[in-house]
Amino acid sequence: MKILLLGSSGFLGREVRRVFGPDVTLIPVSHSGRGGSRAVDIRNGAALRGLVDDTKPDVVLLLAAYREPDVCEADPEEARRLNVAPAKLLTEYLPGSTRLLFVSTDYVFDGENAPYTEDSSVSPVSVYGETKVEAEAAIKGRANTTILRIPLLIGGGSHLSSSGFIGQMVEAIRASEHQKLDDVLMRFPTWTRDVAGAVRFLVEKETDGLFHYSAPRGATRYAWTLETAKIIGLSAEHFTPSKEVVQRKARRPFNSQLNDSKIQSLGYTRHTDFHDVVRTVIGELK
Ligand SMILES: NC(=O)c1ccc[n+]([C@@H]2O[C@H](COP(=O)([O-])OP(=O)(O)OC[C@H]3O[C@@H](n4cnc5c(N)ncnc54)[C@H](OP(=O)(O)O)[C@@H]3O)[C@@H](O)[C@H]2O)c1
Repeated sequence: MKILLLGSSGFLGREVRRVFGPDVTLIPVSHSGRGGSRAVDIRNGAALRGLVDDTKPDVVLLLAAYREPDVCEADPEEARRLNVAPAKLLTEYLPGSTRLLFVSTDYVFDGENAPYTEDSSVSPVSVYGETKVEAEAAIKGRANTTILRIPLLIGGGSHLSSSGFIGQMVEAIRASEHQKLDDVLMRFPTWTRDVAGAVRFLVEKETDGLFHYSAPRGATRYAWTLETAKIIGLSAEHFTPSKEVVQRKARRPFNSQLNDSKIQSLGYTRHTDFHDVVRTVIGELK
């Protein structure tokens, strides 16, 4: 099986790249060509069509996106060039027998009626959420197509600074400076390695349609930071909870918990606990 992985150098792509066995030929693609991936700007339609013609994949995994809500809010047109246009192009251009898996987000929901199932109506409150809804709408009628919605990702990098949410929390804990932390928005940090497993599971099962995957435990940034401090054995006394929602360019859903019983009922039940993820991520730092 030949798999084209678009977004292979990203937070999730780095784990997806590692999850497939030796029977798979994986072609990693990123914008920059980092980490031995092929450099292709998928906003360029001709370049994306050329990549498909050249590689003739059996499966395309579309992970590449602008995933920072504030970045998308600042330039909606540019956001659509990456988050929507390639999904539309692939829907029209890929041969019908080629499987397409698109990674989407819990930000397709407004966060007022959690938990959300695959049957819940979408209601995005940001440009980022809107772009994902538009891409989903473009591809969902296609055969051999899977959409996987996921929440806030946690995982590792070579250094703390490239370790996302966990890295930010550990750095703030170690800094020991007084800080107010959000104690309003619910987050369900989900390990990139578990998500990569879900991607592999759905590809191997050849399952069409929409799926949610999420860690089961939700808490605020304040609560997760206190839990992280306990895991690494440091004080969290310099943090105070803030009940004020910090105004940022893009609105965030209050609680966009994804119910993932559909993928569980098919047999993918892995949910690594937050404690084990933090220990593994810190243990794997260079
Ligand atoms: N991170 C989260 O918490 C989260 C939560 C929910 C859903 N998601 C979704 O999960 C997917 C993966 O997210 P991520 O966190 O792995 O993102 P990421 O770390 O920002 O990585 C983005 C990837 O896309 C590539 N890319 C960017 N612009 C491109 C372009 N013009 N042409 C080709 N490739 C391009 C990047 O390549 P370079 O490295 O070369 O720039 C990188 O490989 C996204 O669809 C995102 O919306 C993420």
